[in-house]
Amino acid sequence: MKTRYISLEPLIDWRRSERPLNLHFSFSTTRPLILEIGFGNGEYLANRALQNPGVNYVGLEKEWQSVWRALRRIARLKLDNVRIIKADARWAVFRLFEPLCFKEIYSLFPCPWPKEKHEKHRLFGNRFLKRLNNCLERGGLLWIVTDDFHYAEWVMNQTEDTGFKVLLEKVPPENFLTKYGKKWIDEGKTFFYRLTLKKESHCYENAITYREMKTYYIEKFEPRRFKPYPVRNDVVVDFKDYIFDPDQNRALLRAVVVEDNFVQDFWIEIRKKENRWHIRPASGCGWIPTMGLQRALDAVYEACKIK
Ligand SMILES: C[S@@+](CC[C@H](N)C(=O)[O-])C[C@H]1O[C@@H](n2cnc3c(N)ncnc32)[C@H](O)[C@@H]1O
Repeated sequence: MKTRYISLEPLIDWRRSERPLNLHFSFSTTRPLILEIGFGNGEYLANRALQNPGVNYVGLEKEWQSVWRALRRIARLKLDNVRIIKADARWAVFRLFEPLCFKEIYSLFPCPWPKEKHEKHRLFGNRFLKRLNNCLERGGLLWIVTDDFHYAEWVMNQTEDTGFKVLLEKVPPENFLTKYGKKWIDEGKTFFYRLTLKKESHCYENAITYREMKTYYIEKFEPRRFKPYPVRNDVVVDFKDYIFDPDQNRALLRAVVVEDNFVQDFWIEIRKKENRWHIRPASGCGWIPTMGLQRALDAVYEACKIK
């Protein structure tokens, strides 16, 4: 198989960056910022960036295959005004962006999740809209194009107290020839719905900030008797694999933490240092110091204390 390399330079390494992100810092020049959510293959994002060199574009997408295709496009077109964030928008918009940072935010054909029981998966619910309002400049625009009237209607019903004035209109499909746009045209759709949400007042749904992490030192650790309990409250912590290496005096415990749609899967180490044992997240796992991560450390500490 022929190996093809693509530059990862447009990817923003959000785990290693200060959060909220200073997006202007990610580009070589400061220009107005526009965000696309769920860019799929990235054709619309890349074309807009090509046509508007005076604007910096940020694409947010959760699937690696899509990110990879977009990176290829960006490389082929030699675009220096696009950056990509690979993350789930359901938590990323709450954790990564500063207030008032975008001039415009848009999304083409977000998944409508038509079944009632899947409603929780739909993007652009009330709190999400409030947060997007917070990220938009004064007078900024959020717009969504969909082929699905029921989804458009559902989003409209989510706009209470979001600070947006909403307009729903039918638009000709030719301007939205993305993978999904073409698919719906091939299926016979002759127009799409465009929802335009204009920011009229500011929402104070600020980004979730990170806390200082507390690690623990203990005098005594009994690796064979150690058994931490899962946590089940506003965050969920499950403990999985556990390894103890007597030569290194080091235990490793895998923790999976779920909080607010955000999942972290990392290792906690309990390591002997001089006469004490240090409990902390192991390096090299790309964890970030959230409240859930702290709960996992607290649970390990409590388990170490049990005789
Ligand atoms: C129906 S596709 C539309 C793709 C593209 N905009 C187009 O018009 O062809 C929806 C896209 O949103 C992405 N997506 C869905 N949920 C997401 C989320 N929570 N965070 C980021 N991207 C998401 C999917 O991976 C997919 O690429």
